[in-house]
Amino acid sequence: MARIFVTRELPGPALARLKEVHDTTVWPEPLPPSYEQLREYAAEADALLTLLTDRVDAELIEAAPNLRVIANYAVGYDNIDVDAASARDIPVGNTPDALTEATADLAFALLMAAARRITEASAFAHSGQWRTWEPAAFLGADVYGATIGIIGLGRIGQAVARRAAGFGMEVLTTETRDQHNLEHLLRRSDFVSIHLPLTEGTRNLIGADAFALMKPTAILINTARGPIVDREALATALSTGQIAGAALDVTSPEPLPADDPLWQAPNLLVVPHIGSATWSARERMTEIAVENILAGLEGRPLPYQVPSQLFD
Ligand code: DGY
Repeated sequence: MARIFVTRELPGPALARLKEVHDTTVWPEPLPPSYEQLREYAAEADALLTLLTDRVDAELIEAAPNLRVIANYAVGYDNIDVDAASARDIPVGNTPDALTEATADLAFALLMAAARRITEASAFAHSGQWRTWEPAAFLGADVYGATIGIIGLGRIGQAVARRAAGFGMEVLTTETRDQHNLEHLLRRSDFVSIHLPLTEGTRNLIGADAFALMKPTAILINTARGPIVDREALATALSTGQIAGAALDVTSPEPLPADDPLWQAPNLLVVPHIGSATWSARERMTEIAVENILAGLEGRPLPYQVPSQLFD
């Protein structure tokens, strides 16, 4: 029997499979374990099932002599030092595919909500201020036929492009490495949607220079990782009207502190990192993470191993 530490209760029945065959401890609190608490559990563990809120760095991995597999409950794995895990031959798993369509749906929901000022209009109606039909109230941007720039053309970026096709949108795409393409996309797009992993190469990719290129009518959507956008530059771009709006599922840090100046910026919509929050996506993510753990403990290849380990 192996010792497994799972850092949160997870939706769906799959966790029960782990509990049946292994000595499985599930962190019971709604907030994540602290780094020190995680380190203590990791020190005794053969396997870790972690969330994007858990920092699994080189020090923690070193302090876990029995660790044989790490399964992250996310497609992103920027919270894990994969090089440190690889150096110990510890496979790291993630949960792609399961959440592609759910996250693309959310990106499109944010795009539509920001374009048509849904949260503002809803708050207005709920507050009893709706007196009559007004010709010039809550005017927003057209979505149908607009131009969308998709930064990052992995699974989720492609799924957003499929949705955009249904809205008759012109779709511009780029990978970050192509600076010329990125600049063209930023200049031309009515909506800019980010679908990149967080790496040192993508951190603060969308900063003051990028906002200076964007249209004053443009709306930024980020469902990827908060630190890809420079939040001070975003606050300035929104306050000065350099861009028309932003809709964020992710911030830096998470949650954004209550006194962060970004909260004061106009035309900002923020939801609390819910891109993959559908029943089926989250239950499938649990299944994949469990399958990754079981495979790792049995010395089999993980069904979903992070690409950077496969390509090394
Ligand atoms: C991920 O999977 O990386 C998302 O951010 C959470 O589902």
